[in-house]
Amino acid sequence: MDPAVDLVPARLRRARAIVRRSAGVRPPPSLLRLEEAIRDPDLSMPQLARLVEANPSLAARVLRMANSALYAPSQPVTDLARAVTILGLTVLRQLVLTTIVLARGTGWRSPHQALAVARTMANAVRTAAAARALAQMAAAADPDEAFAAALLHDVGHLELVDEIGDPYAAYLLGGPALLEDLSPELALAGVTHQEVGLAFGWEWGLPHPLTSVMATHHEGSAEVLPALVAIAERLVHGVAHAGLPADPRWEEVASAAEAGLVRLGLSRGAWEAVLPRLRGEWASLLDLFDLVAG
Ligand SMILES: [Fe+2]
Ligand SMILES: [Fe+2]
Repeated sequence: MDPAVDLVPARLRRARAIVRRSAGVRPPPSLLRLEEAIRDPDLSMPQLARLVEANPSLAARVLRMANSALYAPSQPVTDLARAVTILGLTVLRQLVLTTIVLARGTGWRSPHQALAVARTMANAVRTAAAARALAQMAAAADPDEAFAAALLHDVGHLELVDEIGDPYAAYLLGGPALLEDLSPELALAGVTHQEVGLAFGWEWGLPHPLTSVMATHHEGSAEVLPALVAIAERLVHGVAHAGLPADPRWEEVASAAEAGLVRLGLSRGAWEAVLPRLRGEWASLLDLFDLVAG
């Protein structure tokens, strides 16, 4: 873990208790079996595809994702085993975990909580596509790993919505879209969403790079992947805030994000050039997760 992060034992204990409590709300057994199978090196793609098939909503998501603007296959992908191969195991596992976390609260989250969860996820899927594009352009990280890491980087927020309920949902909905200062969260929840993310990574045995992103994306981490996700999120925020390069606020937003791009060896022009493609990917992804733009 990044040495810059201060680990406070009492807060980590609380983070682990929160993750354990939420894991106690049993997700569908078919998803748990699949989650386990993905880590089994002896399992073949067709076997894995059969397990994906056992969960129809996930199977639909996997097929739609393989056919989306993100992968843009030259021929439509109709075979689940091929779709799983296209996505790769890193992305598939995050997709399964995302489905588990999102499915858990369905039916009992209040409208406020549901909205906070939807906004958090909409931001995460946009950041995921942006992180993938940045990783590709800068050749800084494995694009699939960048996508997977960003998809679940704020899972701590989702866990805390389910743990604390409406006060935390109100905090997420009312706070600045780009969280910089985590002290109000600490005062409200007794723990930060990064600490809960760290506990989540431990609980599910996620590999270090993914756990590190969940635990340190607000820390100015020296590691590539957390920094990449933080830069992607800042750029996504910029687009949401200023819209298009023609917008008068664009200059302000773009120059704020420029330091991150420079760190990746990229220019602002390269980011602006990739934006039209990204907008297409965002639309596919929001649709895929049943999220609406906003
Ligand atoms: Fe975030
Ligand atoms: Fe965050």
